Amino acid sequence: MLGLLAHLHAALVFLPNNGGPAWAGPGGGAGAVYDVVRYGARPDGMTDATLPFLRAWADACRSPRPATVLVPPGVFLVGSATFMGPCATRAVTFAVAGTLLAPSGYGWDSASPGRWLTFESVEGLAVSGGTLDGRGAPLWACKQQQPQQPRLHCPSGASSLTISNSRDVVVDGLRSMNSELFHVVVLQSNGVTLNRVTVDAPEDSPNTDGIHIHMSSHVSVYDANIRTGDDCVSVGPGNSNLWIERVACGPGHGISIGSLGHQQGLDMEDVQNVTVKTTWFTGTSNGLRIKTWGSSKQGFVRGVTFEDATMTGVHNPIIIDQNYCPQKVGCSDRSSSIKISEVKYVDIRGWSTTPVAVTFNCSRSHPCSGISMQDVKLMYDRRVAKSSCRNVQGRSVGLVLPPSCL
Ligand SMILES: *[C@@H]1O[C@H](CO)[C@@H](O)[C@H](O)[C@H]1NC(C)=O
Ligand SMILES: *[C@@H]1O[C@H](CO)[C@@H](O)[C@H](O)[C@H]1NC(C)=O
Repeated sequence: MLGLLAHLHAALVFLPNNGGPAWAGPGGGAGAVYDVVRYGARPDGMTDATLPFLRAWADACRSPRPATVLVPPGVFLVGSATFMGPCATRAVTFAVAGTLLAPSGYGWDSASPGRWLTFESVEGLAVSGGTLDGRGAPLWACKQQQPQQPRLHCPSGASSLTISNSRDVVVDGLRSMNSELFHVVVLQSNGVTLNRVTVDAPEDSPNTDGIHIHMSSHVSVYDANIRTGDDCVSVGPGNSNLWIERVACGPGHGISIGSLGHQQGLDMEDVQNVTVKTTWFTGTSNGLRIKTWGSSKQGFVRGVTFEDATMTGVHNPIIIDQNYCPQKVGCSDRSSSIKISEVKYVDIRGWSTTPVAVTFNCSRSHPCSGISMQDVKLMYDRRVAKSSCRNVQGRSVGLVLPPSCL
C-alpha cells in the first residue's frame, strides 16, 4: 500500500493512523479512502470497471468527511461514466495513479452521448494525476474517410473528461491522450483550475481540442502542454474571467476564442475578460486566434489580453477571422454580428511560415475596435512579415513589426 501511495500526487499528505491509511485532503481534515480495487475493479485493461468506479464514487460522495476515490496503478477499462454530485462533503478527491482506458471501437457513449468521463454538479473536487486513454483512432479513421460530411457517417465521438455544472474544482497533473473528441471540457462551471494538464493526440486527428471552455467563469489553466489535431485551447461562447498561462501548443490549431456565431439555440455568445499569457506555439496552424462565423447571431468578445507569446513556425501567428468557415461549404456571405473590442497583443515574437503574420479580418457590419499592439516582432523567411486589416480600428505602441495596419 505504501509503495502505491508514493505514486500519488503530492496534493495529498499521507498520515499514519491507528486503523490503517488515512488522508488529509486539501481541506486539512482526515479523509476516508475508497479504492476502486476494493469495489471489484481489476487493473488488467480488460475487465469492465465502470460499475466499481461508480460505486466507489457514490460512497465517497456520500461521505460527510473529506473523501478520496483512489485509482491505483494499472490499466482500468472504463465505459461512459458520470460521477454525479452534489456530494455530502466539499472535499472529494479523485486520485489516480493508473490509466483509464476507454472501450475499443466507437459509438460506446450512447448512455451519455458525447462524453466519456463526466463530473456533474460537484462542489469542491480535486482530480489528481492519472492518464486517460480515449482510444480515438477508429473514430478518426471514420471521419477522415468522410471529410466532407463526417457527421452523416460517423458519430461525433466522446470528449474524454467533462467538468459540468460544478464549482471549485482543481485538476492537477492529468494526462489525456487520443480522445475521440475534445480532451478536457469545462462546461457551465465556475471556479475551475487546470494545472499541469498534458494532452497528446496526432496532428491529423479531427476535433481533438485539448481544453475546451464553454459557458463558464473563473476558469484558469496553468502549465499545460498540448499536442493535438485541433485547437490546443478553445474558448467557446458564454465565458468570462478566464486566465490561461504557460501553455505550450503544437502541433495544433492554436489558442482560439470561438468559433462563435454558430451554436444552435444559444442567444448570447459573449466572451469577456480573457487573459492568455506566456505561450509557446511550435508548428501550429494558428497562434492567437479569434474566430466567428458570418451570421446574424448577436454577441461580443470584449477585454482580451494576449501577452508574451513565442511563435516558432506558425501559419497565422495573430489572426482575427470573422468569416470563419473551415469546410468552405455552405458558408454564409453575411457579415458577423459579433462585435470584437478591447483586444491587446503585447510582447509577441517569432516567425511565421506565411508572409502575412498578422490578419485582422473583421466584420463589415460590426468592425473590430480598440485593438492594440505593443512590442510585436514577427518575421517571415528572415524578413519582416506583413499584416492585413479589414474593418478594424486600433493603435500600436512601441516596436510593432510587421508595421501595423491599424
Ligand atoms: C478578469 O478575470 C480575472 C481572472 O479570473 C479576474 O481575476 C479579474 O478580477 C477579472 N476582471 C474583472 C474586471 O472582472
Ligand atoms: C477575409 O474575409 C474575406 C471574406 O470572406 C475573404 O474573402 C478574405 O480572403 C479574407 N482575408 C484574409 C486575409 O483572410
